[in-house]
Amino acid sequence: MDYFKDKTAIVTGGASGIGQMLCEELAAHGAFVIVADLNLDGAQQVALKIVESSGRASPASLDVSNADAVRALVDKVAGEHGRLDFMFNNAGIGVGGEVRDLTPDHWRRIVEINLFGVISGTSAAYSVMVKQGFGHIVNTASLAGLIGSPTMTPYSTTKFAVVGLSTSLRTEAERLGVRVTAVCPGFIQTGIYDAGTFVKSTKEAFLNQIPFKMMDARTAARKILRGVERNRALIVFPFYARFLWWLARINPGLLSPLSRKTVNDFRRTRSEGVGSSK
Ligand code: NAI
Repeated sequence: MDYFKDKTAIVTGGASGIGQMLCEELAAHGAFVIVADLNLDGAQQVALKIVESSGRASPASLDVSNADAVRALVDKVAGEHGRLDFMFNNAGIGVGGEVRDLTPDHWRRIVEINLFGVISGTSAAYSVMVKQGFGHIVNTASLAGLIGSPTMTPYSTTKFAVVGLSTSLRTEAERLGVRVTAVCPGFIQTGIYDAGTFVKSTKEAFLNQIPFKMMDARTAARKILRGVERNRALIVFPFYARFLWWLARINPGLLSPLSRKTVNDFRRTRSEGVGSSK
């Protein structure tokens, strides 16, 4: 994948899961990677691992919900490297639970990270990329950004918005030399479930209701980079994700049985007594 050779890439949420694997795979293909994360220790470890295997990387402390900090990092990287080729707006969190049990803070936090974080990363990178006349912005959405996802409503809300942002900007950006892609994976085995907030549920109960086998994060990162290289508008995987998305486009009602099953399964374990894990 020469597409990434000698390129400069920022990956937000690079300390764990899909972001970590994106960093490792990008570096393996010759890119210089800035591993940006709220978890600086984790980012340092990922960057060190890359450098120890002869790749090029540096860590950066970043809270994507701080728009000024995002812009400052993007400008610093572009200044130091003379270019910014890729901006992977990947950092994200999950909230599981029914809307009737959520507080405004649950909503605010996920919108600030999953949506405003991506808006900030996109805006900052886009300014630099328009000026230089090239670049590729890759926003991690989710299958939950293509089909309604009960018991994950705030998450799905932010991810639909990320798909809208990315697919809209893509056409504005193309004549300016900038590419924009949204990534929509199904379930991937990562730390997002450990870090997630589960309201009147638990991580275990939530994971038990997922009807699909999880894909490992490295395979996911490879699929993402293949799609990025081909400049796909949307990268949707695995097969069941493409199938469900296709059903939704034919008639969203076709997904109702699966959606109702999700709600029923959740309610079987929902309990006043279980409470919130966060
Ligand atoms: P993860 O929890 O393993 O990694 C997320 C990383 O983002 C962590 O290193 C965390 O420290 C960082 N992060 C969280 N808040 C941050 C903030 N405010 N500023 C900077 N960094 C922050 O999760 P995973 O699964 O690798 O998630 C990556 C992206 O993939 C997310 O956008 C997620 O929504 C998306 N995704 C995940 C799926 C899954 O099943 N794991 C499925 C579809 C999409």
